[in-house]
Amino acid sequence: MTSHSLTLTRRALLTSAAAYAGSAVLPDAGLGRTQAEPLREFRLKSAPGTARLVPEHDGETLVWNYNGAVPGPEIRVRQGERLRITVGNGLAEETTVHWHGIRTPNGMDGVPHLTQPPIAPGETFVYEFDAVDAGTFWYHPHQRSFEQVGRGLYGPLIIEEPEPLRVDRDVTWVLDDWRLTRSAGISDDFGNGHDMMHNGRVGNTVTINGVVPDDFAVRKGERIRLRLINAANARIFGLDFAGHEPVVVALDGQPVAPHAPTEGLVVVGPAMRVDLVVDMTGGAGSRVSVVDRFYKGLDYRLVDLAYADEPLRDHSPGWPIELPANPLPDPDVGEATRHEITFNGGMMGQMVMAEMGGAMGGSSRETMDSMMNMNHGDGMWFINGRAATGHVMDPMLTLEQGRSHVLAMTNATAWHHPIHLHGHSFRVVSRNGQPTANREWQDTVLMAPREKVEIAFVADNPGDWMFHCHILEHQAAGMMGVIRVGGKEEPK
Ligand code: C2O
Ligand code: CU
Repeated sequence: MTSHSLTLTRRALLTSAAAYAGSAVLPDAGLGRTQAEPLREFRLKSAPGTARLVPEHDGETLVWNYNGAVPGPEIRVRQGERLRITVGNGLAEETTVHWHGIRTPNGMDGVPHLTQPPIAPGETFVYEFDAVDAGTFWYHPHQRSFEQVGRGLYGPLIIEEPEPLRVDRDVTWVLDDWRLTRSAGISDDFGNGHDMMHNGRVGNTVTINGVVPDDFAVRKGERIRLRLINAANARIFGLDFAGHEPVVVALDGQPVAPHAPTEGLVVVGPAMRVDLVVDMTGGAGSRVSVVDRFYKGLDYRLVDLAYADEPLRDHSPGWPIELPANPLPDPDVGEATRHEITFNGGMMGQMVMAEMGGAMGGSSRETMDSMMNMNHGDGMWFINGRAATGHVMDPMLTLEQGRSHVLAMTNATAWHHPIHLHGHSFRVVSRNGQPTANREWQDTVLMAPREKVEIAFVADNPGDWMFHCHILEHQAAGMMGVIRVGGKEEPK
């Protein structure tokens, strides 16, 4: 184990004991701090505000946001630095902030009631954790997130490598999808039954960094590191960079062997991140549309790459594009403990269960059969037969700390689900029984309808961690569980 992960573990232990006692209040000035890493301080305040999402004539939109902007401010630090982020709540309801994909100690994970008391209106909470991994991350509330994120509460969190990739520009695109009314207001049908039981709150207005984009100015010969973050409640993007050859260099913040996206489409499910290196190979003065083709027959132009008349250089630079690995413990799949997880429910859920139950043998078949007998109907979403009603529940799994574990997951539904585990990154080791080419590290894995995916990781971060679908309507309708790492005692 490297010093980084040891640091994580030591702090995690210290902090989980002190979580409720120490972090709910502002630490006094002069709080003893002996670590050598620089401390970077930030302030976020969630509050109602306005944003000009759509072109002028459509007017402003009432949103909820951080520090008056959508997205919230980009928090940017160096790997190894320590962050202290003071979050104030200017909303009329409780909130928290979750640092999506960051391996924080449990008490800093921002899950209401499970890892901290929610932040009441007018109150403050101080988060403090180390930037263990370099990469592209983001932050968002974990309290009623289907509405709080849906109204605009989210922001990028970038952790730079000690020596960042050489590029001409490092650009972040936070993608979001809004359901707006004709007067540019946010449609207030949050959490309706139809969205919950189908593919979630897919909207009608897509923004990049809080604006419906028109042009993105580029120059021939330019090399851009493009960090894509999907902050949408439910929309999955499949971006076609027509004529360009984007190279995927990181997924969910974690470096991956540089490769071309499958079938030329850069797929980004809710909460997922993709770092691309894109060489601008179009002609000077030309325009090229980036098209989202994820949903068949619903293609639309996201933005145009607008080339300046003056090229930057004639040929693309030959700079290396491989990122250095993060300090993640590699799971030993041969020695791992195996756990089966089946997702079911949603519209047409019974049909898919019947179909898949028949096509499977052994224990999965029995699991399916017994779930069918519970007669869930089409009302909710379930993980291993259970639908969550809040963030506090008995763990669905308890994982021995320090060991390798494989989660063998079956999507027995008719819908896509981006499945997210807190506190850890995992390797995606197989899909439908076939080993993955890159054994990519992810914190959120997109599962297609009826797909089987195996993920593997070392459970090295103790505590109770959320495990849920990141289609926020599915999460709210039960598709959420708790995975416990280590033998934390019930406080009673
Ligand atoms: Cu992005 Cu449980 O969250
Ligand atoms: Cu889902």
